[in-house]
Amino acid sequence: MAQVSSIADEQVSTPLSSSKSILLRISKFNPQLDESSKFLEFTVPYEKWTTVLEAILDVKKHFDHSVAVRYSCRQATCGSCGMMINGKPKLACFTKISELDSDVVTVEPMNNFPVIRDLTVGFEKLFEKHQKIKPYLIRDDADMKSDEREFLQSPQEVEQYIQFANCIKCGLCNSACPTMATDSSFVGPQALAQAYRYVADSRDKGKDTRLNIIDESHGIWRCHFAGSCSQVCPKGVDPAMGIQFLRGYLLGFRS
Ligand code: SF4
Ligand code: FES
Repeated sequence: MAQVSSIADEQVSTPLSSSKSILLRISKFNPQLDESSKFLEFTVPYEKWTTVLEAILDVKKHFDHSVAVRYSCRQATCGSCGMMINGKPKLACFTKISELDSDVVTVEPMNNFPVIRDLTVGFEKLFEKHQKIKPYLIRDDADMKSDEREFLQSPQEVEQYIQFANCIKCGLCNSACPTMATDSSFVGPQALAQAYRYVADSRDKGKDTRLNIIDESHGIWRCHFAGSCSQVCPKGVDPAMGIQFLRGYLLGFRS
């Protein structure tokens, strides 16, 4: 069980269930009421496999149920629990406290997103930009033969895009992107990676449509290849590589 350390008058002396503990600092901020954020601090015990999300839920259960945090699957699949953990965008359910190698764990809302409350951020713009690049197969089915029921692909054709299909729309890449920090209209690495996912799919016929969409003033050319998007992706997607491949199409090096 967690122990509160900074918002109670006296230290709570509940026995810890583990010999190891961290100081968990949770950002509290309600943009409707507060002028600035503050940190609440709790001493939280942990085991080898305790995740940051479990530590936050421990605090919610025992001390402050008002802490706002979004989560669902708890297995790095739904993309809900992204947050800054000791300054880096990570999934809270996929980050073990033991791997952070620190006695202090600070959790804050993701950078480059509007804060709804505490650790939760708004995803509207992320999904707007994702939708803008038309994240679905575009093709004229009139050229299918009448007895065809499937779009068959070779393993080599699948290999061209499959890592990009693993995106869970968690937004960590956009949060890490220095261009997003200075240009909130930038289409961003998440949407660009998905543009490449469909452009590289042999079943798709929407390449020119998508290339036109991203070839604009807040589009692909704003990326200056910091590469931080690819470093933080929890699913092994490499948006920076996808962006370079898209540029190859636009510059005529790929067809
Ligand atoms: S590319 Fe990776 S980091 Fe970006 S939204 Fe998709 S899964 Fe998350
Ligand atoms: S709770 Fe689903 S990705 Fe973390």
